[in-house]
Amino acid sequence: MSAAGTTEEFWAGTRAPLNEATGLDPAAYTSDEFFAAEQRQLFGRAWVVVGSAPDVAAPGRMLVRQVGERSVVITRGTDGVLRGFLNSCRHRGTELAESDCDVAGTIRCPYHRWGYGLDGALVATPFFDDIPREEFDPADHGLIPVRIDTWGVLLFACLSHETAPLRDWLGDLPARMAGYELDGWRVQETRSIEIEANWKLISENFQEYYHLTWIHPELAKVSRVKDHYRYQGAGMYCGQTTTPVSGDERDDWLVLPAAAGLDESDEVSGRFVALFPNVLLSVLPNHVFVIQLDPTSPGQTTERCTFFLPPSTAAVSDDDMTSTLTFWFDVNGEDVGIVERGQRGLTRGAVPPGPLAPRFEEPLHRFHNMLADCMTLPTLASLSVPAGDDGSPESRLGTDINPHPPTIDL
Ligand code: FES
Ligand SMILES: [Fe+2]
Repeated sequence: MSAAGTTEEFWAGTRAPLNEATGLDPAAYTSDEFFAAEQRQLFGRAWVVVGSAPDVAAPGRMLVRQVGERSVVITRGTDGVLRGFLNSCRHRGTELAESDCDVAGTIRCPYHRWGYGLDGALVATPFFDDIPREEFDPADHGLIPVRIDTWGVLLFACLSHETAPLRDWLGDLPARMAGYELDGWRVQETRSIEIEANWKLISENFQEYYHLTWIHPELAKVSRVKDHYRYQGAGMYCGQTTTPVSGDERDDWLVLPAAAGLDESDEVSGRFVALFPNVLLSVLPNHVFVIQLDPTSPGQTTERCTFFLPPSTAAVSDDDMTSTLTFWFDVNGEDVGIVERGQRGLTRGAVPPGPLAPRFEEPLHRFHNMLADCMTLPTLASLSVPAGDDGSPESRLGTDINPHPPTIDL
């Protein structure tokens, strides 16, 4: 069996029904061959989160981001439109920008100063016409476009022009979360952490609360196992909710004021969503914590954490902010420790994959099947967005049995 994971043979344990399914072959976490295929098949074709939408709010701001094997620049034009381009000059291919910058009205290549408008059009070619080339038309040499879109505070890129639009990828998630009005939330704090583990281990760990009692004894006082429910509609995501968001013993997550205007479900719940492939959202009534996963090698991931506050929270005291952030980073540190240990075990032991626990690890099964689809399909134009539960008030309040029965048909 090839370790590249591009044939169905690799995914036999994933394609089995949940109560017969296994985790992934260790090669999915450790092999250079699998990683290269994943960069191409998944990150090269999916809607990937590349940052925060507020980072590119101003016209002339330009972000530089890695998407799969490509470098991409993202700008907002003076017409307000967000656009993305491959970070390569159309003259001799030079990298246009090394890092985030302000470009005013023109993107200039540093080599021979060809210039491009914020819409990607080639507008300057110094001295090129000293000896004119008859067939040369600047309109044929604009920057090569990359698809860019946003939802709420998230900025997305997609290298493939065959993949369905972002709204199809997200499914019912924008409607489910409409009450938070995430477009208006602001960045309060950012932090990057280098993790010695494959990006999928970090996502899988986020998706299951099986480990809660043993890895997070303090968190378990706030976010109790019995208060977890599925929060999973149709869309490329795996979601759970805790209702109520905080238990009786500690209230570390609730020291900041809640966002204005939340409904009776959102104001008492924590929404934990792994949006496929690379972002983990923790949406609480009073703050949002976003983890963006940027894989750098099979065993290394950069975790970019961004902490958002709602527009109705004008100012917060340092003490309140510190206690909320400290709680998050303590919990996150516990997760980092165990996923790095997972990586070491998979690398050094390379044992065959074990069974998934049906009560707790149904989201992993869903995640693995999305991964299998992206890795094996010749084009993501034929990708099926998985089904899920309806968004009934009962399921959003978590008043149903815990967990909902695993009825999603994969
Ligand atoms: S390579 Fe960009 S102007 Fe020559
Ligand atoms: Fe955890």
